[in-house]
Amino acid sequence: MCGIFAYIGDRQAAALLIAALKRLEYRGYDSAGIGIHGGETGKPLKVRKKVGKVQNLDDDCANAGDSISGTLGIAHTRWATHGKPSDVNSHPHTTADKSIAVVHNGVVENYQTLKKQLSNKGYKFVSETDTELLAHLVRDIRNDMPEATWPQVVATALQHVEGAWGVAFLFEDEPDLMIGARKGSPLILGVGNGEYMLASDASAIVEHTKDVVYLREGELVEVHRSGYKVQEIQQIVHSLKESLSPRSAREGQSVENPIVRLELSLDQIEKAGYPHFMLKEIFDQPNSLRNGMRGRIYNRQDKPDSWQIKLGGLEKALEAPEREGKSAIDIMASARRLIICACGTSWHSGLIAKYVLENLAKIPVEVEYASEFRYRNPVIGKDDVIIAISQSGETADTLEAIKMAKKNNAITVGIVNVVGSSIARETDAGIYLHAGPEIGVASTKAFTGQVIALLMVALRLATERGVMSDEVLDSYCEALNALPDKLESWFKDLNDQIKVISKYFRLASNALFSGCGIHFPVALEGALKLKEISYIHAEGFPAAEIRHGALTLIRNFVPVVCIAMKSDPAYEQVKAQISEFRAKDAAVIVLTDQENNDFNGIASFVIRCPATKLELEPLIVAIPLQLLSYYIADERGCSIDQPRNLAKSVTVE
Ligand code: F6R
Repeated sequence: MCGIFAYIGDRQAAALLIAALKRLEYRGYDSAGIGIHGGETGKPLKVRKKVGKVQNLDDDCANAGDSISGTLGIAHTRWATHGKPSDVNSHPHTTADKSIAVVHNGVVENYQTLKKQLSNKGYKFVSETDTELLAHLVRDIRNDMPEATWPQVVATALQHVEGAWGVAFLFEDEPDLMIGARKGSPLILGVGNGEYMLASDASAIVEHTKDVVYLREGELVEVHRSGYKVQEIQQIVHSLKESLSPRSAREGQSVENPIVRLELSLDQIEKAGYPHFMLKEIFDQPNSLRNGMRGRIYNRQDKPDSWQIKLGGLEKALEAPEREGKSAIDIMASARRLIICACGTSWHSGLIAKYVLENLAKIPVEVEYASEFRYRNPVIGKDDVIIAISQSGETADTLEAIKMAKKNNAITVGIVNVVGSSIARETDAGIYLHAGPEIGVASTKAFTGQVIALLMVALRLATERGVMSDEVLDSYCEALNALPDKLESWFKDLNDQIKVISKYFRLASNALFSGCGIHFPVALEGALKLKEISYIHAEGFPAAEIRHGALTLIRNFVPVVCIAMKSDPAYEQVKAQISEFRAKDAAVIVLTDQENNDFNGIASFVIRCPATKLELEPLIVAIPLQLLSYYIADERGCSIDQPRNLAKSVTVE
């Protein structure tokens, strides 16, 4: 994914654009650029772009003086999809005369066809990107319709473009206009005092205004200093076709998009003294878990010593008339099965959810990689419920899986962190994680936020289905409530211990993670975190599976991280395996219970975890693994918040 930002107002744009790009840099960080309208017509738009981090662009602009002055501009931070990272492939892209400039987040799927058509007409492409064609296409349509307004031209052009786009345009002959549009990629309008911004996400807007408008799929916004107008692209094109000439076209009907107040504060998107966002986000977990539970788990009015769970987003009647006023909870409670679709870390929390939902609510659950699910022909019926788990709410494969489920009349439920994101909007019902913005590319607090959200869903369904007594529910709610404080008081010692362990393993080139039952997905997650940010090859296994092949990898000093909690049904077997690993000279790191001395003298390091209920243990055990990968990556000097080749969310297919 990429980050886009645009500004119109009376302040100098360049500094604002670069500051915004720094906020959005986690979305893509291989190159960046800005385009500015100098205020006069008849002069080319001013464009500067640089490969590498936003800082390179900032350095480049530092001495640019007048050549980047202007109060209207667009900006982009890129994660390359078409064309390698380079100055020329960076956005904005322009027409040859720099009369039109565009920034784009997404992918143009019919790029080859459109490029060929435009090349045949004489348009010269200078970059290898799909985005450049948007500038030429808009120019071409403008030439064909000289009387049309820019919104009409852009809407017409976008009707030809297949794929996903969040775009922002500038035009040399319009010093008081920027146009934004979206389909498949997010775009938000910030409504300030005499100034407006467009951005891929709220983190770039919040320091200017908290009032935002979320553009919906297929909408276009034209923004002037005096105000803005949102219209449906289809509607603009339709009114244009109905009339004889563009000038006599009826104004496209503007759509009413409410202004929403952001619940985001600046300190949530700053490092607050931490060296990296990832570390801040790991330490934020007691807080983010509290926020995830707030207002959802509470004491019953009729029985103040007992607990109740209510998940607002799943309790209200669904809009579809054929569901006869039933809520998502009603439908999930009687569903034939639940199908969880997700990618990466979110898929791991899905695996934990399977365990919990089957164990507590007794509902069959399947967990699918969204990317696999959408490309085969799965049997989905109207009695199935598809649960999409996503931090960003923008992952292309997960979004497609939802669309496919909807086509088959299944109910879709979103477990999403980013408010107003595409998955949150596309699903029939859902709950937000309330984990706050996650900026480090490696997911940490969103993972535990997902696990706790799904645990609450499982408990709520268990009571709805009558398979859990009030007493048992109370015991889970009490354990959940106690968890954030437990984590908080554990952090200091844990942090010190993990720092020491990390020094030993900083030079490892392979690592194995093992766990069984509910801890197997945690092992997978530990391995993913390590390879993601420290570039050490790591694999996660169900504990008993290592004997079926991977044992060959175990030798001197290979770190094997074993989750061996006493609550585990296969604890004795896991214990025997750990002795076997040790006998093969592996460096074993065991995560186990506070008072457990079974591994003294066997493991190289024992990490003792506070006690809780089995189903809640992943929320505890995941944290040392997050810290381990963080400190090992730090020892190795890796770019922790922005690991190579990755972006925060994969919005392309
Ligand atoms: C790993 C990580 C990724 C994401 C995956 C899905 O730390 O962050 O594996 O979990 O790309 O992203 P979301 O949850 O945004 O759909």
